[in-house]
Amino acid sequence: MGICDGRVAIVTGAGGGIGRAEALTLAQEGARVVVNDLGGSVSGDGASTGPAAQVVEEIVALGGEAVANTDDVADFDGAGRMVQQAIDAFGRLDVLVCNAGILRDRMLVNMTVEEWDAVIRVHLRGAFCPVRHAAAYWRERSKAGDANDARIILTSSTSGIYGNPGQTNYGAAKAGLAAFAIIAAAELGRYGVTVNAIAPSALTRMTESLGGPFAPREDTKAQMDPQWVANVVTWLAGPDSREWSGRVVETSGLRVAVAQGWHRGPGSESPPASPAEVGAVLAPLLGAADPPRLLGP
Ligand SMILES: NC(=O)c1ccc[n+]([C@@H]2O[C@H](COP(=O)([O-])OP(=O)(O)OC[C@H]3O[C@@H](n4cnc5c(N)ncnc54)[C@H](O)[C@@H]3O)[C@@H](O)[C@H]2O)c1
Repeated sequence: MGICDGRVAIVTGAGGGIGRAEALTLAQEGARVVVNDLGGSVSGDGASTGPAAQVVEEIVALGGEAVANTDDVADFDGAGRMVQQAIDAFGRLDVLVCNAGILRDRMLVNMTVEEWDAVIRVHLRGAFCPVRHAAAYWRERSKAGDANDARIILTSSTSGIYGNPGQTNYGAAKAGLAAFAIIAAAELGRYGVTVNAIAPSALTRMTESLGGPFAPREDTKAQMDPQWVANVVTWLAGPDSREWSGRVVETSGLRVAVAQGWHRGPGSESPPASPAEVGAVLAPLLGAADPPRLLGP
C-alpha cells in the first residue's frame, strides 16, 4: 500500500533533480505519473526528449506506471496537452506538481531584460498555464457532481520568500509563486483542490555550481539529496494532507518548516495627514518592525 495509491500526478521539470525524485517517489507510493520535461539547460536553452523518457524508464523498471511529456510548461496550449495526456493515459488527474525552473542569475545593475523575462516566464507563466488547465478540469468535474480530492504543489524558494542577492528575477518569481499558492488556495478550495508551495533545498545541477556560503558542503551532502524534498511533496500529494492549503513549506534533509508570510507589523490608526508628518509616524514603526532577513546559508 502506498500513500498515493490510485492517484494520477503530473510533475513538471521531472527529467532531473528534485522533479525526478518527486516523480519516482510518487510512483513508488502508487501514483501513475506524467513526467514532463523540456530537456533544456539550467539557463533554459535548448530542448531534448531524453530526460523525461529516461525517468519514465526508471519508473517502469521499478514496476510503476508513467508516460513522458516534453511540452514547454509556459506554452499555454502545451500545458493543456500535458493535462489532457494525464486524462487520456490514466483516466483522471489528481495532482499537479509545478517544479520546472531555470536560473539566470545576475546582479540587478547588469541584468538584461531577456534574463528577466526568461526566468519570470518559466516560473510564473509556467505555473499559471498548467494550473489554469488543471483547475478548469477540476471545476468541470465538480460541476458534474464528481468529488475532487486534488492537489496543486508549486515550487517556491527561500531565495524568493527571504531574498538572495543576484536573483531579483528568480526571487521575484518565487515570491510570486508563494502568493499564487495563497490566492489559488482561496479560489479552488470550493472545487476540492488544495494549493500549497514548497521552498526546497537540494543538491542538483542548479545548485551544484553555487559558490560562497551556498557552495555544496561534504558534511551536509546527504541532507541535500532531493529525496528529502520528494518525501514531503509526496505526502502533500496524498489524501492525508487534505486539510492544509495555502501554505509554504521549507523542505530539505536539514529541516522541514512552515514559512510564514506577510502579516501586518507595527502600525498606527492615526496615519499622517501631510508629507511633513510622515517621518514622525512612520519612522518609529519602521524601527519597531522586524528588518528584512536575507537568505542565510
Ligand atoms: N535545488 C535547490 O536547492 C532549489 C532551491 C529552491 C528552489 N528550487 C526549485 O526547484 C525546482 C527544481 O530545480 P532543480 O534544483 O531540480 O533543478 P534542475 O535544473 O535539475 O530541474 C529543473 C527542471 O526543469 C526543466 N525545465 C526548465 N524549463 C522548462 C520548461 N519551460 N518546460 C518544462 N520543463 C522545464 C529542466 O529541463 C529541468 O529538468 C525549480 O523550480 C527550482 O527553481 C530548487
